[in-house]
Amino acid sequence: MIKLHDKYFKPFISAKEIDDAISRMATDIANDLGDEIPVFIGILNGSFMVVSDFVKKYPKPCEVTFIKLASYEGLKSSDDIQRLIGLTQDLTGRTVVILEDIIDSGKTLAEVHRIFKGENVKQLLIATLFYKPEAYKKDYKLHYVGIEIPNKFIVGFGLDYDGLGRDIPEVYQIKTIEHMTNIVLFGPPGAGKGTQAEFLKAQYNLVHISTGDVFRYNIKNETALGTLARSYMDKGELVPDEVTIKMLNAEVDKNADAVGFIFDGFPRTNAQAKALDELMATKDSHINAMIALEVDDEVLVQRLLERGKTSGRADDADEAIIRNRITEYYNKTAILKDYYSAENKYFGVNGIGSIEAITVRLSEVIDTL
Ligand code: IMP
Ligand code: MG
Repeated sequence: MIKLHDKYFKPFISAKEIDDAISRMATDIANDLGDEIPVFIGILNGSFMVVSDFVKKYPKPCEVTFIKLASYEGLKSSDDIQRLIGLTQDLTGRTVVILEDIIDSGKTLAEVHRIFKGENVKQLLIATLFYKPEAYKKDYKLHYVGIEIPNKFIVGFGLDYDGLGRDIPEVYQIKTIEHMTNIVLFGPPGAGKGTQAEFLKAQYNLVHISTGDVFRYNIKNETALGTLARSYMDKGELVPDEVTIKMLNAEVDKNADAVGFIFDGFPRTNAQAKALDELMATKDSHINAMIALEVDDEVLVQRLLERGKTSGRADDADEAIIRNRITEYYNKTAILKDYYSAENKYFGVNGIGSIEAITVRLSEVIDTL
């Protein structure tokens, strides 16, 4: 993903696909025009890259010139098209091929046709590298189209978003889905966090990022970050937050189209909570809520002892250990409760009751976000 000004863009059309499309157009046009020497006219600014690549591929003699029109503000096509540099040569009797980077609504094309109305050219042909059929509102024939694309804003290969992106050799498409609902899920041992995370994931189409799973995945697959994390663990040291954050960043990027995330097992400290805020900010997003399942200590102790009878987990069998884990949980999360409360993002949810009843309570919180 790349960021230009305030927007994110994801890779969409590779340099190779663009190159192939331009080659095809050059061949088709050369075949159709026979021995005629055409005048290729690029519409500035956007078309400079297409024109440059196109004429290098054009196998026969040709002339090249430009006119400069301006019609765009930011992401939106504007009605007011200005002619900044018009025609500077006589084109009477010539075959003119307009070379466009992109045809969107067709307003620019309408202006082009207006310009050529009185020029007495032999023929006016329109060639465009990109074409958005869903956006096109005119009837002018498009003689040569490189690649048809959906009606979404793109940048790169001459196309810009508010001045930026023209220099990129491939094409990126705007990322429209924002990460809308990002939750940090908390719960003491035995509160049923894992079970509830599964339900929320399904119900809200969220991506569940369990830090433990992310660590295991990276270490097992020996990713660069996994290997780095392992080097600390092997020395008996804590993995620095920086490394963990990078792994989480990679997870978030992997799911660029996700509606939102459930973070589980992270953050554990104030510094981590800040780091997570910063990470989400780089994605134009933020943490909406910390939701903590609240369960009375005595209930937890009973639940865990019950689980210990069948799970075989040593730390579920000893009451003193259980109480210790619960105390530790509250010591750790108290800080985070303060952190998120300060931003009005802390939500405690009663974790006693049936699984369904608790899911309903969690949903009630999420629906208000
Ligand atoms: P039209 O006049 O609406 O057909 O738009 C044509 C002009 O708008 C192009 O020459 C571009 O400058 C600009 N444009 C249209 N769509 C995009 C896009 O997705 N990204 C960047 N510029 C675009
Ligand atoms: Mg243009």
